[in-house]
Order: sequence, then structure tokens, then C-alpha cells
Amino acid sequence: MMKFFIKTFGCQMNQADSAYLSGRLIEAGYRKIENAEEAQIIIFNTCGVRQHAEERLFQNLKALRPLKKKKPGLIIGLIGCVPVLHRETLFRSFPQLNFLAGPESLSLVPDLISRSKNEEQIAIFDSTLPPALNLPLKGRGEAGVNISAFLPIVTGCDNFCSYCVVPYTRGKEKSRPIKEVLKEAEKMAENGVKEIILLGQNVNSYQAENKISFPKLLSQIAELPGILRLGFMTSHPKDVSPELFKTIAAHSNIYRHLHLPLQSGSDSILNTMNRGYTAAHYLQKIKEAGEIIPGLTLTSDIIVGFPGETEDDFEKTLAVVKDAEFDDLFAFKYSDRPKTKAEKIEDKIPEKIKEERLAQLWKLQDGISLKKNLETKGKSFEVLLLTESRKKPGFLLGKTENEKKILLSENTNLVGSLIRAQVTSVDRRLLYGQT
Ligand code: 5AD
Ligand code: SF4
Repeated sequence: MMKFFIKTFGCQMNQADSAYLSGRLIEAGYRKIENAEEAQIIIFNTCGVRQHAEERLFQNLKALRPLKKKKPGLIIGLIGCVPVLHRETLFRSFPQLNFLAGPESLSLVPDLISRSKNEEQIAIFDSTLPPALNLPLKGRGEAGVNISAFLPIVTGCDNFCSYCVVPYTRGKEKSRPIKEVLKEAEKMAENGVKEIILLGQNVNSYQAENKISFPKLLSQIAELPGILRLGFMTSHPKDVSPELFKTIAAHSNIYRHLHLPLQSGSDSILNTMNRGYTAAHYLQKIKEAGEIIPGLTLTSDIIVGFPGETEDDFEKTLAVVKDAEFDDLFAFKYSDRPKTKAEKIEDKIPEKIKEERLAQLWKLQDGISLKKNLETKGKSFEVLLLTESRKKPGFLLGKTENEKKILLSENTNLVGSLIRAQVTSVDRRLLYGQT
């Protein structure tokens, strides 16, 4: 039995893809192991969304050179977004690579591995295949938690935000058939999954063949037996609707949480980014959401130093962040990505200014996150216990009904169940509680 090791970089969609591929390989008779040194097949599932992730990947690849020398039969493959972006140069830069496959060709990877045993260096980027179907495997949710599972419902993206490679790497947006999604969710629940997180670059664009839209799909999954918690990401601000907010409010098992990337608070930058909304629209949407969904929490993505971003544009971002009071943020320095429109804009912001802006943004957000967490002190929440905490031994990590992370000192056999807990203390990142 050949042993494979898979390392995943990047987003939740990549985690779901790795889980899918692991399932396919196990089915085909391979054994999954957690130690690269002992593997006969090493697969890196790569992320090309920002330059930093790509650089980390290249370092990891270089580090494999001695291992390949020691074991010339070792098969090394790259899957995901980076092979699509650098298909012409990868084999030349890294002669130790055996195969490349794009995110739209994952179902062919078992075949690529078989062929790698005889041939050298094969690449496949077929976008005519049906999207890779997930298997009802356990253990591929957040942080490898067994009771949590990612379920992709929309693949690809047609939005073409000017900084983003995803429409080029993951191809055209495709919604999975509703029957298939429901069947998979049911199977997950049967296998002991308690929390499902629906995935799509833009989940709100979900449109089943029978015109079922995202809020309807969400209700149908929420009503399946055994699903204690249902979440979804990512929502696009231009597409979230009162119907979605009402659906969340109407189901006690849907997390009262939205991840709603703002990207910038400046209308002129938002326009160049091709985001399709203004800062005022954004603020209006989250106000509406907050009115309809009691206890709603919000997180967001922000890019600092987009080409042409002036001090004034950046001040506008800070002002919206102050106003919106996100529970937390994912903030990034802009980086040029191949093929994108933003790459061709000349007015690039120096690295030092990007760093300063990022630090300023973090300073603001750290205060807001702490304040939002302090507001929960003394309150009681229903918590789904997900796993043992890696950072704090003896504690379990759970999520409140509005998807805030909380640590509780509870017995491990409670993992997978809902309990009521009161918040006793907080820091900037976490709540701490007791039952
Ligand atoms: N540079 C920096 N951040 C980016 N993101 C996407 N493309 C880029 C880029 N070229 C960020 C966006 C997106 C998140 C997943 O990654 O904020 O929402
Ligand atoms: Fe990229 Fe925009 Fe699509 Fe998100 S919505 S994947 S940022 S193009």
C-alpha cells in the first residue's frame, strides 16, 4: 500500500479539496499518513491568492530536494491554484516535481499518480470536468475537527474583483445540484458531523437547477435532522439580502454570523476593485442584518495598499472599520497577482507604507475586538464543543451560537454536544467560560 502525505495551504475551499482528494486516494487503495518523510507520494495543495502564500510554498518545495535525492522514486505533485498561475515555469524551476493539477481537475489526480510512476512530469488543467464531489468523510472541517465538515456548494467565481486570481484559477462559477448537496449533508450528519460549513467564493450566488436560491438551500439544510450548527462563507456584500438575514434569524441552528469582506472603505478604491458597492451601501447592509438577526457577529477582509490608495482612502477604511465594529478582521497587504487587472495599475504603494497602514489597522481592530469580546462577559451562550484546545491543554474549544470561539474546562467526552456556558473572562481573541 503506497503512503501519501498532503499539505494544505490557503483557504477553506482548499481544505475541502484536500479532504476530497484524500477520500479518493484512500478509496483507490493508498494510505494517508501525517509524516512527509515516510511518504511515497507528497502532495501540496497550494494557494495563489497572495504572494506570501506562494513564497511559503516555494520554500517548502525547495526543502524537499534532499528527500527526493534520497528517495528517487518519491512522487511529488502540486495541486490547487499555484499550478494554474505558473504552469509554464514550475517544472523548470522545480525539476523534482512529478505532476501538476488545477483545482478543476482534482478528480484526475489518482490517475496522474499512477501515470507518474512511469512517466515524467505531467500536468492537467481540464476545466470541462464536473466539479469535484465531496465525499461524506469525517475529519475535514475546521482545524481537522471530526464533528465539523466543510461542504462546497459553489465552485469558481465570476466576480473578477480586480486584485483577485480566483476567477482565473478556479474557473467559472458553478453551483452544485441541490439533490447532491442535500444528500451529502444528510450523509455527513449520519456520519456524526454536527457542524456543517457551506463553502463558496460567493455563496449567495448559489442557484440550483430548479431556481432554488441560497437562502432556500440554507433553510433546507438547517432542517435536516442531526445538524446542530450550520454556517457558511463567503458572502459578497453586493448580494446579501433581507431574505438571507431572515432565514438566519428563523433557524436557531444557523450561526448568527456573517463573514462579509469589505476590502476597502474608500468608494473610489472599491470601484477600481470592481466590488459593486459603496461604503455607505455596505454599512446599510450590516445595519439591516443587525436589526433582523439578534446577536449577529461580523468579520471582514480588508486589503491595505491597493494600487493608488491614498492616505485619504486609507483613512476612509479606518473610519468604516470604526463604524462597523467587526468582531474580527482578516487584513492583508495588497500583493500583485498574475493575470489580474490590478497588477497592471501603475501606482503601486511602497511596501513600507503598506506595513504602516496594516499596523495602524490592527491597532484599531485590536481595541474593537477586545471591546466586542468584553461585551459578552457575564452573558450565557449555547456552545457547540468542537475539540480539545491545542493552545490550552485541559480545555475544550467551542463556538457560541454567534460563532465566537470560547474555551471551557470540560470533559472530552462532551465534544460534539451543545452545552450552556457563561462567559467569565475574555481576551482580544477568545472568550473563556464555565457551565
Ligand atoms: N492581495 C492581497 N490580498 C488579497 N486578497 C485577495 N487577493 C489579494 C491580493 N492580490 C484577500 C481579499 C480576499 C481574501 C481571501 O484575500 O481580502 O477577501
Ligand atoms: Fe476573488 Fe472577488 Fe471572487 Fe472573492 S468574489 S473570489 S475576492 S474575485
